[in-house]
Amino acid sequence: MFFTCSRSRPAGIDRRLAVKRNSSANVSTRAGGAGATIGGGTASAIIVSDHIDANRPSREPSVRVLFGNCECARAACSVPGVSSPLPLAQRSTDAADAGAAFDVGIAGAGQLARMTCLAAWPLGLRVAVLGTPTEPAAAMAAGLVEGDWRDAGAVAALGRVSGVVTLENEFVDAAALAAVQATGTPVRPDPAVLARVQDKALQKALLHDAGLPTAPFVVATHPRELAAAGRDLGWPLMLKARRLGYDGYGNATCADEAESVAAFARLDAGDGVLVEGMVAFAAELAAMVARSPSGGVACYPVVETVQRDHVCHEVIAPAPIAHDALGRAREVSLAAAAAADGLGVTGVEMFLGGGGEIMVNELAPRPHNSGHYSIEACETSQFENHLRGVLDLPLGDVGMRAPAAAMVNLLGSAAGPSRPDIAAALAVEGAHLHLYDKAEVRPGRKMGHVNLVGGTEKEQRQILEDIDRQWAHRVSGH
Ligand SMILES: Nc1ncnc2c1ncn2[C@@H]1O[C@H](COP(=O)(O)OP(=O)(O)OP(=O)(O)O)[C@@H](O)[C@H]1O
Ligand SMILES: [Mg+2]
Repeated sequence: MFFTCSRSRPAGIDRRLAVKRNSSANVSTRAGGAGATIGGGTASAIIVSDHIDANRPSREPSVRVLFGNCECARAACSVPGVSSPLPLAQRSTDAADAGAAFDVGIAGAGQLARMTCLAAWPLGLRVAVLGTPTEPAAAMAAGLVEGDWRDAGAVAALGRVSGVVTLENEFVDAAALAAVQATGTPVRPDPAVLARVQDKALQKALLHDAGLPTAPFVVATHPRELAAAGRDLGWPLMLKARRLGYDGYGNATCADEAESVAAFARLDAGDGVLVEGMVAFAAELAAMVARSPSGGVACYPVVETVQRDHVCHEVIAPAPIAHDALGRAREVSLAAAAAADGLGVTGVEMFLGGGGEIMVNELAPRPHNSGHYSIEACETSQFENHLRGVLDLPLGDVGMRAPAAAMVNLLGSAAGPSRPDIAAALAVEGAHLHLYDKAEVRPGRKMGHVNLVGGTEKEQRQILEDIDRQWAHRVSGH
């Protein structure tokens, strides 16, 4: 595992290496392949590596730091034998660990981390991500801790260089995050609560205990319990894997006992599955709630989400539903995010029942696909407010800049290299294109999205359909 960064704060890194690694790190330099030009301002790199001690356990990472462009001069400040005419960048927030190389570390490097990095730059915030150089966020981040968010050692390495650690997915091992927190680096949201939220069964219980309406549910720990669940909740049932489910992977709609027994065998990881009654919803809704440790709270407009095959396809903001239902959904969202002690952004997915009732489907303790419209449509994007929230900075205005906005996800339709035709989307007036720079496309894979701001909801639905048709075959391998 390597820690790789561009435009980082080398003095902080140096100090942490010295302090946290018991001075065993031997920091030395060599010019990068392109030839480093110290202080010259040309594209270049310095690699700083601490050599692996032969006595050190093999999982202990070596550290490689890349500094690009004029930041080489800053990097040089911490490199023995290299001096720099430039001062180190000065940056501090009350909330951030002033000694950390990066203000925020994100345990992941996918599209949510990528868009969070993009929101960080104008605020002068430096974000490190945990992943590989080819992942969507790597090129946008101030720093890359090269590794896997499933690896506790990599999560610990992220913690060592970050003022605060946060998430872009809820599957990161809560114990690994708790270990980071134990070193004194805040992890937001709190790993103890995350442990409940990342298990769909425990999350449902958390929502239920908070008095929030959900679909009726039970946790089945053995297939023989499924017949009774079907009798109590009514067929068909929705079975859900307790952990690691996303975009419907991990869910199964079961018409009868035989189907549910087969699904149980597939979804059970040893501690049973969540079984839900099917909700005959009139619409699916979502809202992002931003919260900060010092009590800041802001609820984004409630949106309608349109799923196809369990994957979010379109978002309409605000949701074109009755005003009082919007109000109830907002109250439920605020209560659900509070029940989960959300910090930064919490995404709240809801069902609108035929009688106008609101039920919580699930929570996401991070920015959410249904909040992407906020990049152009709201005064402060969900990504900026996620940063503000986890850093305990004042939250930004979540109001919309236009009466209506919409988003369509660009989903892969075939497998192969991605060859997006951006002209098709850019030709649509008012369309804002966001691609995630994924080299490989797969059917159903989220490759990007398009936001539309302004106009009426009806006009936007039409444009979304046009974009969707054009892109269905373009974001593909053919
Ligand atoms: N109890 C239910 N009744 C009816 N439909 C449901 C129910 N639970 C889930 N669904 C449908 O399946 C979709 C995906 O379910 P859920 O959100 O639980 O799964 P997920 O894999 O976590 O999805 P995502 O990652 O997209 O949020 C929902 O958006 C909804 O359309
Ligand atoms: Mg969901």
